[in-house]
Formats: sequence, C-alpha cells, structure tokens
Amino acid sequence: MGKNPLTRRNFIKIGAGAAALGAAAKATILEPRTLWASPRPVAPSDMIRFGIIGTGVEGCSLLSATQPISGVECVAAADLYDSRHIAAREALRGKQIETTRDYRRILDRKDIDAFIVATPDHWHRQLVAEVCAAGKDVYCEKPMSHSVADGLAMVDAVQKNQRMCTVGSQRVSSILYHKAKEIWDSGRLGTVTTIEAAWDRNTDSGAWVYPIPPDANEQTIDWKTWLGSKPQRPFDAVRFFRWRCYKDYGAGLAGDLFVHLLSGIHHITGTNRPPDRALSSGGLYHYKDGREFPDLLWTIYDYPQFQVVLRCNHNNNDVGEFFGFYGKTGTMLIQGSTLHFRPQGPYALPEDYSVFGWPKKLRDAYYADWAEKHPKPEPTKWTLSSDEEIYRPPRGYSDMTDHLANFFNSVRTRKPVVENELFGHNTSIGCHMSNEAYFSRKPAAWDAATMQIKSV
Ligand SMILES: NC(=O)c1ccc[n+]([C@@H]2O[C@H](COP(=O)([O-])OP(=O)(O)OC[C@H]3O[C@@H](n4cnc5c(N)ncnc54)[C@H](O)[C@@H]3O)[C@@H](O)[C@H]2O)c1
Repeated sequence: MGKNPLTRRNFIKIGAGAAALGAAAKATILEPRTLWASPRPVAPSDMIRFGIIGTGVEGCSLLSATQPISGVECVAAADLYDSRHIAAREALRGKQIETTRDYRRILDRKDIDAFIVATPDHWHRQLVAEVCAAGKDVYCEKPMSHSVADGLAMVDAVQKNQRMCTVGSQRVSSILYHKAKEIWDSGRLGTVTTIEAAWDRNTDSGAWVYPIPPDANEQTIDWKTWLGSKPQRPFDAVRFFRWRCYKDYGAGLAGDLFVHLLSGIHHITGTNRPPDRALSSGGLYHYKDGREFPDLLWTIYDYPQFQVVLRCNHNNNDVGEFFGFYGKTGTMLIQGSTLHFRPQGPYALPEDYSVFGWPKKLRDAYYADWAEKHPKPEPTKWTLSSDEEIYRPPRGYSDMTDHLANFFNSVRTRKPVVENELFGHNTSIGCHMSNEAYFSRKPAAWDAATMQIKSV
C-alpha cells in the first residue's frame, strides 16, 4: 500500500503539517446575554414575587441564583425540615421571608405570582397541580415527572389553568448550548446519525451518599408528609437525604443525570418528542448500600434521524460531563463548559485499499483516471478544513441564573419558554424508558397512541 502519492495517510500528513503551520484553534469567550428577566430597573408594580416549595440543596442553589436577577423577589418558602427554613433565608442573604412547613399556607398569598418546586420527584405532580390551580406560574425541577402518568397529569394541569411552566434543566438556557444549537442549525455538521453523552463521577457525594445533618430527626422533619402518597414507613434519615437511591421518590441515574443530557440533546437538535426505543444495560458494582438503582447505566436510544448513547458511571470521572455530535462533515463536542467544533470530510480521495487486489495495469489506469478527474489545487489556494473552533462561557457564568431569568421573563411577558411542560414531559419519558429497559432487561418502546412505555 501507499504506492499512490495521494493515499489517505499522505493526505492526512499534509493536512496535519499545514494545520500545524497556520491553523491554531480559535478560542472564543461567548458574550453573556443581558438577563432576560429585566434588562432595566423594574417599576415596583412590575416586580415578580415568588415562593418556593422545597429549600434543600437545589432549592437553596436556586434562591442564590436568583440574586443577580433584577425585578424578582422571593417572599415565602415551605419546607418539611425546619433547618431548611434557616438555610433558605441564608441563601437570600438574610432576607426575613415567611417560612412554613405547610406549603398550603403560602399557596394562596395574593402577592405571589409564581412558585419554584424543588422537592424530590415524587412530590412534583401534586405540587405543580396545586400551584397551577391556585393561578400561579411554576418552575418545576427536573426530572419533571416521576412516572409517565404523573407527566401527563402535569401537562394537563399547566395547560388547563393556562399557566407558564419551566422545567429545571438549566442547560437549555445556557449560552454554550445556544452556540451548539446555532452550529447544529447551520448544517455544518452535515447529517448526524450518532450522538453520545456521558456524565461520570467518582465521589461518594456524586453517588448521592450525602452526610446526615446531626439535627435531623422526627421532631425537626415532618416525615409523614414527606412520604406523601408513597408507602408509610418509620422515620429513615437515609431515605430523606439520599432519596435519589430509591424508586418511591426518585429515578436513579436516569432521572438525576440522563435528564440533563437528554434535555441538552433535545434542545440542540430541536427535538421535542420521546425516543422511539431504549435499550439499557449496567449494574450495581460499588455502592451496595441498599440502593435500588445501578451505579453504572448505559442506554441506547433510537430517534427517527439519529441514535443517542448515554452513560452514567459513578466509579470513574475521567470523562466527566461530555457530549459528542458526530456528523458527516463535522464533529461537535461539549466537554464540561467547553464547546469544540471540528470540520471533517467527506474527503475526495482515491481508493487506496481494495485496488491492491487488482492487477497493476488496472490499478495504474484507475489512479491515472482519478488524478485527471481531481486536479491538485495550487499550493497557495489550499484551504484548511481542519480548523477547530472552541467556545467557552465567561468566568463565573451561571446557566441556572439565565434559566430562572428566562422563566421570570415569561411570567412577566407571557411569552413562551423553551423548556416548557411538554419539553420536560418528553425528556422525562426518555428517563423512564431507560429505567424500564434496565429493570425489565428488554427494550422499551414509546407508544404514542396509548401514551405508554411498552416492553418489546
Ligand atoms: N437542576 C439541577 O441541576 C438540579 C440539581 C439538584 C437537584 N435537582 C432537583 O431538585 C429537586 C430537589 O432536589 P434536592 O437535591 O434539593 O433534594 P433535597 O432532599 O436536598 O431537598 C428537597 C426538600 O424538599 C422538601 N420537601 C419535600 N416534600 C415537601 C413538601 N410536600 N412540602 C414542602 N417541602 C417538601 C424536603 O423537606 C427537602 O428539604 C429534585 O427534583 C432534584 O432532581 C435539580
């Protein structure tokens, strides 16, 4: 092999050498958008006042993330664990808001326009329904639903009451993912048949083994209410704090992390439907602490135009958070908070493999013909197709703040948000399909006619 001067290997060498000479990757820091909630100071009459239900780890992060947004104000918080009333006020830099264990005490406050729901998944359905029935808009944490039936009921509650709803996968509002969407929409990737994404971690905290605070007990926590519609059981602080490990309250790796990956992929590719089919595998290898979900999960999803392969591994974090979009004319990667775009092929190259099974005479004639039909460009007119583009958000950028700002903007203007209840419902279905396929050990298909997941 390699007798032809234009073999693939030589072509790549030439390309790489030329790239090394003149084509350093361009790194661009993306411009943050003006916060959509309010680019200008807001008149007191235009102020959005909100309450929050669930001020645990995520609820407090959300409250902190609202601080840079002008024209919005948290006025009340409900949580079943007393210490989280203090944590909520601290997240609001000491603001003395009303706090209560009972969310129904703040639901009808006339001065509240919207609620954030940041409870474990098993409470999302009821809270979203009650918030909407009370005439308030709702920001519901991801995964929107705990089951397909919950999701259908939530879509219905939002639409029947004509409320604005945003689901909390904040990557959908990220300037980095908007850039990725711009590249996708430009068609520069060519036909994309393969998308892969991973979210790997390698710490106990990453695997949800959160420490139990010393003041957690039945006096400081309303345990019976926390269980909600799920089977009653004696107080169990492990379940309260590490609820993601148990099917009654969470959805394991799929509900916690796949949902972010699917939301990012759906947003970038303009997809707003469940996958057709899911095949899962994985296992529980390290965290054998009584949890009901695996610590390694792979799912292959079929969509009409492409396949998506997702992985979450709790036992190695070399890859971290990663997306790859592999197209006929380009590759787009998101690694943590860096976006890469690399053009590639299709390459006009002569065959350099199978013709070595031809007699020399025919092979020489083939190369002569190919060279005649593909004249070499003059060296000064070569363009480098290997230019890589790199994009990053500015230091300190928060997609969570942008996501909340988008929600509050839609509360004020009634303009629709991207990640509404249907979007959240569809990505949640993808998570439920992954778990269904893992636990049944059979492919799971989405049946749009009956709105159900079926083992096939
Ligand atoms: N968007 C993200 O990046 C992100 C990150 C973490 C968690 N989350 C989501 O946020 C939600 C909460 O997760 P977390 O880690 O904060 O959980 P958490 O256990 O730390 O906090 C949940 C809080 O909700 C409270 N609660 C439960 N039911 C309630 C009820 N009926 N009334 C009032 N309070 C109630 C609990 O007392 C608890 O303090 C989950 O849906 C999770 O998936 C999203």
